[in-house]
Amino acid sequence: MDKNVILGVEGLNLYDRAGNQLVKDVSLSLRAGETLGLVGESGSGKTLTLRSLIGLLPEGIREKCAARRDNPNCAMIFQNPMSALDPLCPVFRQLCEVIELRQKTNPAETRARALALIRRLSLPEALADTDRLPGSLSGGQCQRLLIAMALSCDPEVLLCDEPTTALDVTVQKQVLALIRELQRERGFAILFVTHNLAVAAQVCESLMVMRQGEIVERGPARRLLTAPCHEYTKALTGAILPVPEREA
Ligand SMILES: Nc1ncnc2c1ncn2[C@@H]1O[C@H](COP(=O)(O)OP(=O)(O)OP(=O)(O)O)[C@@H](O)[C@H]1O
Ligand SMILES: [Mg+2]
Repeated sequence: MDKNVILGVEGLNLYDRAGNQLVKDVSLSLRAGETLGLVGESGSGKTLTLRSLIGLLPEGIREKCAARRDNPNCAMIFQNPMSALDPLCPVFRQLCEVIELRQKTNPAETRARALALIRRLSLPEALADTDRLPGSLSGGQCQRLLIAMALSCDPEVLLCDEPTTALDVTVQKQVLALIRELQRERGFAILFVTHNLAVAAQVCESLMVMRQGEIVERGPARRLLTAPCHEYTKALTGAILPVPEREA
């Protein structure tokens, strides 16, 4: 594997308990600062591929691969922000716990860093002095909080698994813009998983299209959108809804 690759795998195969093959011969790699999108329909194997990359495969999934490059400095943002938080623990405390664990800070430093992150992500500063639980935050606020947690370990790679699927379209746009802005500030690489080709093309320079556990096409995002080769990519680009006024 190229020495500039900071996270990657070659010839990844994943099987379930019964021996069914879920992911077939997938190779992917990320270089510092790069933004790569992994697009495909539900059940195509995107999440399992991500989980294999960070060594968090679910129990019962067996893995075989030719080569891999691990990176301990990865952070992940999950599809459903609510289920990634402890519903019974105040949100500010959850953020502080992550900072303390990853950065080994004392209580005063922890609080200062948590406050700085809250401000950077435009979350209400009052969160620091109230015992608000995740259930009292909006979906967009929850996702911002998870992004704050992910950033608190100064990641080299940010893995995003459908980070905006649970959000409404306007909040989705804000969160995507925020992720890009933070990437410009901090320079981490992004592996962005989504079933939405239009969203992937907004965020990523290059895309990989996955179907039934296999990569069927890869290339620059613009090329895949304007001149897709594989039938499945064509179907995906055809599924992007046109805006009626623009059509006219
Ligand atoms: N823990 C597991 N045990 C057995 N099979 C699993 C497990 N997790 C996922 N699978 C199967 O592996 C395949 C790929 O699942 P995966 O979650 O990676 O899909 P996905 O592309 O992320 O889909 P979605 O867009 O819906 O999130 C599916 O057929 C799924 O049923
Ligand atoms: Mg998934």
